[in-house]
This record gives sequence, structure tokens and C-alpha cells, in this order.
Amino acid sequence: MAGNSSGPHGRRWWRSPAGRVLAGVATVAATAAVLVTAPGANAAAGTLGAAAAQSGRYFGTAIAGGRLGNSAYTTIAAREFNMVTAENEMKPDATEPNQNQFNFSAGDQIYNWAISHGSRVRGHTLAWHGQQPGWMQRMNGSALRSAMINHIQKVMAHYQGKLAYWDVVNEAFNEDGSRRSSNLQGTGNDWIEVAFRTARAAAPSVKLCYNDYNIDNWNYGKTQGVYRMIQDFKSRGVPIDCVGLQAHFTGGSSVPSNFQTTISSFAALGVDVALTEVDVTNSSTSQYTALTQACMNVARCAGITVWGVRDSDSWRSNENPLLFDGNGNKKAAYNSVLNALNVGGPTTTPTTPTGPTTSTTPTTPTTTTTPGGGSCTATLSAGQSWSDRYNLNVSVSGSSTWTVTMNVPSPARISATWNVNATWPSSQVLVAKPNGSGDNWGVTIQHNGNRSWPSVSCSAS
Ligand code: XIL
Repeated sequence: MAGNSSGPHGRRWWRSPAGRVLAGVATVAATAAVLVTAPGANAAAGTLGAAAAQSGRYFGTAIAGGRLGNSAYTTIAAREFNMVTAENEMKPDATEPNQNQFNFSAGDQIYNWAISHGSRVRGHTLAWHGQQPGWMQRMNGSALRSAMINHIQKVMAHYQGKLAYWDVVNEAFNEDGSRRSSNLQGTGNDWIEVAFRTARAAAPSVKLCYNDYNIDNWNYGKTQGVYRMIQDFKSRGVPIDCVGLQAHFTGGSSVPSNFQTTISSFAALGVDVALTEVDVTNSSTSQYTALTQACMNVARCAGITVWGVRDSDSWRSNENPLLFDGNGNKKAAYNSVLNALNVGGPTTTPTTPTGPTTSTTPTTPTTTTTPGGGSCTATLSAGQSWSDRYNLNVSVSGSSTWTVTMNVPSPARISATWNVNATWPSSQVLVAKPNGSGDNWGVTIQHNGNRSWPSVSCSAS
């Protein structure tokens, strides 16, 4: 599979203002944007993944598990791409076909194939109105809210430490920028932030994304609705690291002229941006070039994923929207994209796509201390929330004689607890011990505008 985030052959790469990539320059000033011209020195990368990696980006594809036995398919996929999204196999109907019975075999098959071919993996998707298993489709209210939380916790636990990104929530907005009505929306307007908080608590090191279609045109209602939600999340410390623009330019839609403005505007909120499901009617070379350049021109545009390998693999195969034809030949658009990736842009991405989450994580959800003899761990997860307050579930493992201390950030205040023997010496400090009802208990916090989660520590005696 194509290269990693450093330049080919481990060399340092520089770009002229014209965007030409130059390598192997012996002496350069330490300042950026060094102008050196050496026509012909451009050692262009020969695959999409390697070309994108020159600027720290990735180039990905959707993979369908059912096609992994087709060698024409896997040959192209392994050669060209360094990010993989499971086309259907990590969706709720695939991973939790019966309530609380999880099946990861199809998702794992794709994960294992990707990793063994040097690719990273985007998780897609945890909470969505589409492709829900039947039992979930029939559910609503608090039962559905709990089922969503459980689904996120269990699926993320299975893939803990393995994925680069998760599409935590998919397609939650209407075209006018209001919330799409769905059974999930019916559980309360805060379902999206509960999903993200639950996700962060479940797996603190994977990047958490909101993903949607028709959020490409900066002047469009839906784009603005999603933008305002992310802006709000960032201002309140709701953990979100990235936004995915599906970028399905099929069915009569096309790349808008302000596409780069949209990408850079989202990026300015402090999130990574990615084009996550690209397809273009008849693979217009000008549109593929434009969308690739728009990403390359924005430092926090981390990568591009096309929604399939060959036209014959596409969910919109009648529009021939991909970069390889049904025989596996490179189409003209392939060369357009490869060239745009090789030319690069004025900037490279400042963040690594994997690794620790951004500083927006308000607190550490889990802490263990070992004062003498035993040890214990307290883990927080999101519970129900309301406009003025929210619940946290606390699960303690290890020693059964634990004391959990929680510090709530002012002006938030502790307002209630359950299943625990708790005192709170002040409105911000909670000291909790077992009350005989087990190791799972909870706390209600009146947030007073500060929704950052409390810090928590556990000591055993
Ligand atoms: C599509 C798949 O490509 C199809 O195979 C499946 O039948 C339906 O879903 N937005 C998304 C993707 O987030 O998950 C969808 O994938 C395409 C639209």
C-alpha cells in the first residue's frame, strides 16, 4: 500500500510558490517557502496514496468486504490507497444485528485487510438514522438513547486503539440547516453531543467526526447548520475533532465554486476536514481536479476518500463516478487527481491524523491510584442530559473498597447521585464510597454553562 506521512525516500520536501515539489536540495535557508527551481527534479509519486502522503495527507477508498476475494479489486486497492472505510460493515445493522449482541466479523475482515496492506482505517458510522438494525428502528425515547450509548461504547471498545477516525454521527441535518427528524432526534436535541461525549469516554485517542452530504456549498442552509453545531460544540467543550464532507457530486450536483471556502471555514473552527465519500458524475476531470486542489489548499484538510475502487464497485455505478473503470483501468480523472496531489499546495497539514486527541478534551475520564495494597479505576460515561444538567455514569473496577473523588469545574455543581454513598464537602467536590448496591453508580451535574466533565480519581483501601 502507498507510503506514509513523510516524503518519499525520507527526504525533506520543499515547494516553490508555483507549487512545484522539489527534493534533494542541499542547502536552504531555515525559513519556509524557499524558492528553488530545478525543472525536472520533481519526483512525482506514482500512486494516489503516496502522492497524498507527500503533504501528510491520505487518499482512501471505501472497501466492500464482499469484494475482497476479487484480485483485480484488491490489487488496485492495495496499490493506490492508504486509508480504508468499510462501505457497510461497521454500520449499526452490521455490528449490532440483535440488541446487545455484537458481530464484528465483517468489520474485522476489512480492518485486517487494510492493516495488512499498510492502510489506516476510518470507522463509519456509530449513530445514524440509516442502516439501523430492525430492533433499533422500532425503538424510541430513553430506551433508544440508552441503546445508542451502549452501541457506541461497545463498538468503540472493540476497535479501541485501532482506528484513525470514527464518524460518530452521520447525516443528522435537513437541507435547510435544521435537524433531520428521526428516532434518534426524537430522543432529544442533545443526542449528538451525548454521542460525541460517549465516544470520547469510550476511546480517548481516536478522532471523532461529524459526517454529512450536501455541506459543500458555503452558502447552503445545511452547511451553515452543521457549521453552527460544530462552532457550538467547540465553544462548550463538546469533544469533536473533525468534519467529513461526503462530497457525493452525483445525481445532478457538482463541486461548488466556493468549496474551498467551506473547507477552510470548517477548519478555522479547529477541526480537521476530510472529503469522505467522493464520487463525481462521469468522473469530470475538472471537478475531480477542483475538489482535490481545494483540499490541498487547506492545511487541515487531512485527506480524500473516494466511495469505491472501480466504477463497477460504486453504489452509483450508472454514473461511472470513480477513478478506475470497470476493467480496472485508470481513467482521465485518476491522472487529474494524481497531478493535483503531486503539485501539492501552499501548506501541509499541521496535525497528524492519528494520535492524541486535541486539547478540547475537557477532562481525563479515568484515573487509577494505588495508595496501598489494592487499586481501582473509575470510568465515566455520558448519561442522559437536559438543557440545564447532565448525568454521568460511573463504573468502578478493581478493589471493591474504593473511594472515588470527583472535582467538578466551577460554576458547575453536583446536584444528585444514585447507587452510592456520597458526600460533597463543597458543590464542586464529591467523595463517593460503595453503598452495597455495586460498582456502577451515577451523578447529576448542574452545568451552569460549563459542560466540561469532572476529573475523577479512585483510591482503594
Ligand atoms: C451506502 C453504500 O455505499 C451502499 O452500499 C449501501 O447500500 C447504502 O449506503 N452516505 C453514507 C454511506 O454515509 O454510508 C452510504 O453508503 C452512502 C451515503
